[in-house]
Amino acid sequence: MNINAKGPVRKVIFDCDIGWFNDDAIALLFAHQSPEIELLGVTPVAGNFDLRNSVSAALKVLEFIGETAIPVCPGLARPLVHERTSYTEAVWGDWAKEMPEDRLPGGPPQLKADPRLAANFIAETILGHTAPVTIIATGPLTNVAVAVRMYPEIVNRVEEVIIMGGAIQLLPGGNGNITPGAEFNFWVDPEAARIVLRSGMPISLCPLNVCKRPTFTIELYERVIAEQSAVSELFRLGVGPHFLDPELDRKKPRLYYGLCDSICVAFCIRPEIFETHRLHVDVDISHGLSYGASYGFVLGEYRTGCESDFPLYGSTKEMTVVSDVYLDEFIQLWLNTTTGKEGNRATVQQP
Ligand code: RIB
Ligand code: CA
Repeated sequence: MNINAKGPVRKVIFDCDIGWFNDDAIALLFAHQSPEIELLGVTPVAGNFDLRNSVSAALKVLEFIGETAIPVCPGLARPLVHERTSYTEAVWGDWAKEMPEDRLPGGPPQLKADPRLAANFIAETILGHTAPVTIIATGPLTNVAVAVRMYPEIVNRVEEVIIMGGAIQLLPGGNGNITPGAEFNFWVDPEAARIVLRSGMPISLCPLNVCKRPTFTIELYERVIAEQSAVSELFRLGVGPHFLDPELDRKKPRLYYGLCDSICVAFCIRPEIFETHRLHVDVDISHGLSYGASYGFVLGEYRTGCESDFPLYGSTKEMTVVSDVYLDEFIQLWLNTTTGKEGNRATVQQP
């Protein structure tokens, strides 16, 4: 039990398309530093990066803050169905190819990946704990979908699945970021997203609508690195180069998507600083213009009483859709937690 926790401590598996040094890495640090979260393991998946880079980034981040006890279990190296095309490669397509190995500060991690595969680890952890376990998923949902298909009994045992994914046009700011209707995580693996959304697990969905609201500004960066800790050093090495980039918009220097995945972590520990709706959300898996697009809807608002009532082919269960955030509270929470002012501070520093 962490004595700094304000609420109950939640047991969390962090499933992510982490890389050096992206919003998943920032969210992992936020989760690790939170006194209200006990991290049980990290399960990288191909997404922003190929799997190899994703695994080594997760290990490097944990090693850097002296955290050697949390297992990193590699997940799937490709989505379930989505194939590599020229469009996938052109648009944020690192999941679709083997990248050269990232140059990590101080060289590759000394820590080794856990031999368990992500889907097995996820299911065995949920089924093996008497206390409830939550999944925070900030990448394509491939690992979680495979865990559901291999071990359907986890559906009734998992406490909550908090997902960064989708874009809900019914709510403000609902455009996709890869196609007009598709957000990246759902678009990389639409079939996996659909399996998870239709699984019946208790889901809280943090779509792009809310995740693109906070801005990682240069002022925020400077406040983090003003601290003397392993975490601030990690930010200096990981995020610092971005703010030195000559291409950066000098009038509005910010790290795009820097806090996107951190929204899920904040929702896990302080749901009261968010606005939510109860909706059904489903994903289009037809191979056309809308591949990977998500739809949020209220049952009964569309044509009913005929043989082909919407949604035509069964439906997802209702889920919580996070639609907005109190930004000042979020930034304060993120800053205090990540820099250690809310306890759980990581102080071990390794080059
Ligand atoms: O669309 C934004 C999401 O896609 C974020 O989770 C980002 O890290 C990428 O995975
Ligand atoms: Ca992500």
